[in-house]
Amino acid sequence: MSSTHLSLIDNFIINADRALRTLAAGNDMTSERPSPARPLDEVDLSEAERKKSAALMRVNHTGEVCAQALYQGQALTAKLPDVRAEMEHAAEEEIDHLVWCQERIDSLGSHTSYLNPVWYGLSFAIGAGAGLVSDKVSLGFVAATEHQVCKHLEEHLQELPAQDFRSRAVVEQMLEDEARHADMALNAGGYNFPAPVKGLMTLVSKVMTTTSYRI
Ligand SMILES: [Fe+2]
Ligand SMILES: [Fe+2]
Repeated sequence: MSSTHLSLIDNFIINADRALRTLAAGNDMTSERPSPARPLDEVDLSEAERKKSAALMRVNHTGEVCAQALYQGQALTAKLPDVRAEMEHAAEEEIDHLVWCQERIDSLGSHTSYLNPVWYGLSFAIGAGAGLVSDKVSLGFVAATEHQVCKHLEEHLQELPAQDFRSRAVVEQMLEDEARHADMALNAGGYNFPAPVKGLMTLVSKVMTTTSYRI
């Protein structure tokens, strides 16, 4: 068998493994950094507050599932000769976010979104497709997505119950990291998409946030 075939099969297995690990409930992924929620005490939340926090953290978790898929798709097709190491570091930070959101949802006694496989597939296709077009488009997609995520996280800081310090600590650290990821992708030459493309992305993300909030 030629090395090209081997590397195609290797890539397929690596990507399938990563997808299953991302999507499996109670997956074996571990974060490099401990969750910012860990040092903080759990406070008593009313049933309504707990449900609200869990729904918002479920939206954030789905966002992180999308980030995993987007970065995996990009890694498969984009060349990224100068910034591959930085992008890999960003992808590792996305694993932290995924694990932190999962932990927080677990401690709030709720579940991750049942639609995550759909969003993973869609984001992987976008990530891989953008990378096939060019690195500039690929990095542009990362920047636009990260900006979109920052907007959601800022909204969530307004909406989360004021005394849910543990969820807030997670969201605040994620916001800091995502803003850095967006800057990095733009500085690396990412295309700044025109308003209609950003509008379409906002629409898709609205569908994602609305459905993940509920199921
Ligand atoms: Fe993230
Ligand atoms: Fe990010």
